[in-house]
Amino acid sequence: MRIENPQLLAALPELGVEHCRDEQLAGWTSLAVGGTTDVLVIHQLQHLPDLVALLGREGAPWRFVGGGTNLLVGDGELPWLALHLASKNARLEFAGNQVRVPAAADLGRTVMECAKRNLGGMEGLIGVPGSVGGALRMNAGAYGIEIGQFVRRLDLFRAATRTIETVPASEAGFRYRHTAFAPSDVMVAVELELPAKPYEEILATIKMCNEKRRASQPLNEKSAGCIFKNPPGASAGKMIDELALKGHRVGGAIVSERHANFFVNRFQATADDLLRLIDYVKERIRQAFGYELEEEVIIWKN
Ligand code: EPU
Repeated sequence: MRIENPQLLAALPELGVEHCRDEQLAGWTSLAVGGTTDVLVIHQLQHLPDLVALLGREGAPWRFVGGGTNLLVGDGELPWLALHLASKNARLEFAGNQVRVPAAADLGRTVMECAKRNLGGMEGLIGVPGSVGGALRMNAGAYGIEIGQFVRRLDLFRAATRTIETVPASEAGFRYRHTAFAPSDVMVAVELELPAKPYEEILATIKMCNEKRRASQPLNEKSAGCIFKNPPGASAGKMIDELALKGHRVGGAIVSERHANFFVNRFQATADDLLRLIDYVKERIRQAFGYELEEEVIIWKN
């Protein structure tokens, strides 16, 4: 979608918004697929309500793209604008065992900054790519922990009411790869409370998690992490592997030989290739196990 309206174009700089025209969203996602639209990069968070009101008045639909690491965007001309929070000045503020983190901050950098202040707990999240906001929305987890368990409260922009609200963790509905947020809610900042731990101890756990991840996941290929949620008490990767689907290819998309729940973009895959591969694997799992796999990756079909 292209912004053509001169009044809207003129208002953007006043709201601290950078206008990137005709962006390929493939460049904004770790899967490296996704069609074309204008991207609005928000540099001054306080103007987010005004920006969304303006887009509403102009009848311009939008979607929020964070780190883009758990996102499968459709091909071609996209019928919505992409909004993105600038991460350049994402500063962490520490107070004892608590830290306030802007949603645009990188998750891995956040884990390390906390470690340097002898605050641990989140070691397992070290290799999870993406922003803190994305991790919150999905309640990202790995190696036995989930980000939700460290959240005290968070600030989010509710598109429905166009206000920035503070909600306690108890209202976020954190469950396995799930939260109670609406798709149009935008994470703004979070207050985490972390257990005190010596830096050296945190580093040792981080090293162990990194080694496990390197040994079992295709980290040097383009992916969105795990494609499917694990069924209760089972592993989607193991189930797909049992059907000997590693290496199965649709167009440029392949079921990783290293971890069967990672679908990688190896040969300039399109979103359509990935969607067809997802459908094929779901069908095979349905036939073999009578189970309906649920996508973990967020899919925005065109
Ligand atoms: N397995 C196979 N073949 C495979 C993949 C896995 O047999 O191709 C087996 C493993 O040997 C192991 C079991 O399945 O016995 C579980 O595998 P793994 O330890 O790799 O964990 P997972 O359940 O597949 C989950 C998360 C990952 C997270 C890891 C580590 C989900 C959907 N996935 O994977 O998260 O990194 O645990 O804690 O919950 C993600 O969310 O994108 C993600 C990658």
